[in-house]
Amino acid sequence: MSVIKWDKRLITKYNINGPRYTSYPTALMLSEQFSQDRIANALKTAGDELCLYLHLPFCHKLCYYCGCNKVITRHQHKADKYLDYLAQEMAMYQPLVKNKKIRQIHLGGGTPTFLTEEQLTRLMDLVHQHFTFAENPEVSIEIDPRSCSDEKLRHLRELGFNRVSYGVQDFDKKVQIAINRVQDVDLIAHQLKLSKELGFDSINLDLIYGLPYQRPETFKKSIEQVIEMDPDRISVFSYAHLPQRFAGQKKIPEESIPQPSVKLSLLEQAITQLNDAGYQFIGMDHFAKKDDGLAIAQREGRLQRNFQGYTTDGQDALLGLGVSSISQVNGVLWQHEKELPAYYKMIDSGQKPIVKGMALTDEDKVRAALISQVICHFELDIEAFKSQWNIDDFWAHFAEAIPLLKPFIEDGLVDVSDKKLRVTELGRLWVRSICACFDEYLDHGQNRYSKVV
Ligand SMILES: C[S@@+](CC[C@H](N)C(=O)[O-])C[C@H]1O[C@@H](n2cnc3c(N)ncnc32)[C@H](O)[C@@H]1O
Ligand code: SF4
Repeated sequence: MSVIKWDKRLITKYNINGPRYTSYPTALMLSEQFSQDRIANALKTAGDELCLYLHLPFCHKLCYYCGCNKVITRHQHKADKYLDYLAQEMAMYQPLVKNKKIRQIHLGGGTPTFLTEEQLTRLMDLVHQHFTFAENPEVSIEIDPRSCSDEKLRHLRELGFNRVSYGVQDFDKKVQIAINRVQDVDLIAHQLKLSKELGFDSINLDLIYGLPYQRPETFKKSIEQVIEMDPDRISVFSYAHLPQRFAGQKKIPEESIPQPSVKLSLLEQAITQLNDAGYQFIGMDHFAKKDDGLAIAQREGRLQRNFQGYTTDGQDALLGLGVSSISQVNGVLWQHEKELPAYYKMIDSGQKPIVKGMALTDEDKVRAALISQVICHFELDIEAFKSQWNIDDFWAHFAEAIPLLKPFIEDGLVDVSDKKLRVTELGRLWVRSICACFDEYLDHGQNRYSKVV
């Protein structure tokens, strides 16, 4: 992303509540009236390779902004019980995937590094007992720097992890206090340096813009400090403020949250700084060095999107394990029980902890492909798309999108012809809103999504 004309008036017009399109249809469309036979069939008939996501929900302390599925506790033994249940869950899925190879495995949460070294060893032993890995798999983990000693980091490397992602959010002390997450720059700089020395292939840092008391001046400094640390990837998430859904967010005073125009300035500045420092703007909330796998995949037209965001693999081949995890395999989506006691109860009764699901219709698959292409590559070759999906008249097929796209076209955010749909540089910030024009389900629960920027 090079020269952008920032126009803050666009905020009032396009900053809708909208999905992040980590799947299409989104997880909100999953239904309890769903036959589990379809899941078994989807897994059995899937391709040779799968990606695995494991959800580890525990954290030691609540960060007020947090929108993740987590359980705050000081009791380390709770993770032992959780691993007992994960083992049972793996045994239930294992017969369905015994011929597949695992290409990527990602530990997310919550805080996977809540686990002790012994617990992490046990977890990885379980994974190896139940699944077969492809050659040189990507093995990644989300790390809360406050819960990761040098020894734990070394241990992770010994266990085969080759990618790490650190939660930073912001280095400014006033912001850190307001979000109940105080952590020193030095701690993170030290862990990054050690990660490099230990030979991790890819290092990511998570930041959030739109947090309480963030100002362009202070956020600029935080970004400078991040650039200094030289990670391979940087996520700059838009703060999703939904206090009705995430009770901890009620502890953040509304008046401390930056206004939308300030929020856009924070993002604008982050994009400019990261661009100047040589990072490629992948889209929405991701930046990567030009020689990183994500940036290369985007340039080569191979970028994908799954429940973890932008990815090089695993779209429509992601098996999620653990409480609240979501899977998408072979055109079927399903979600596990979100609450720990109910999750345990389902496994105790011998069932997979699946509570909702859906199978994509043919039309869903067409729209999923379109949205994925636009959100990953900002451009759609209409002729190629028509022949790939057997569509005679593209604009007749997507007729309801035409009036919705009109204002985007008039404001120079999208260029459209019979041959191409292209999101302009200026339009890239609003790619979620642009994709929403092709979403048949958007009326269902729009208020449950966060703001686009
Ligand atoms: C599971 S956490 C990462 C691992 C670890 N728990 C930590 O916090 O360091 C995933 C990331 O989601 C992002 N996140 C959490 N709540 C958010 C919210 N309400 N809005 C935007 N991003 C959020 C944060 O950047 C966080 O690092
Ligand atoms: S941001 Fe990470 S550490 Fe903080 S509560 Fe959420 S999952 Fe836990």
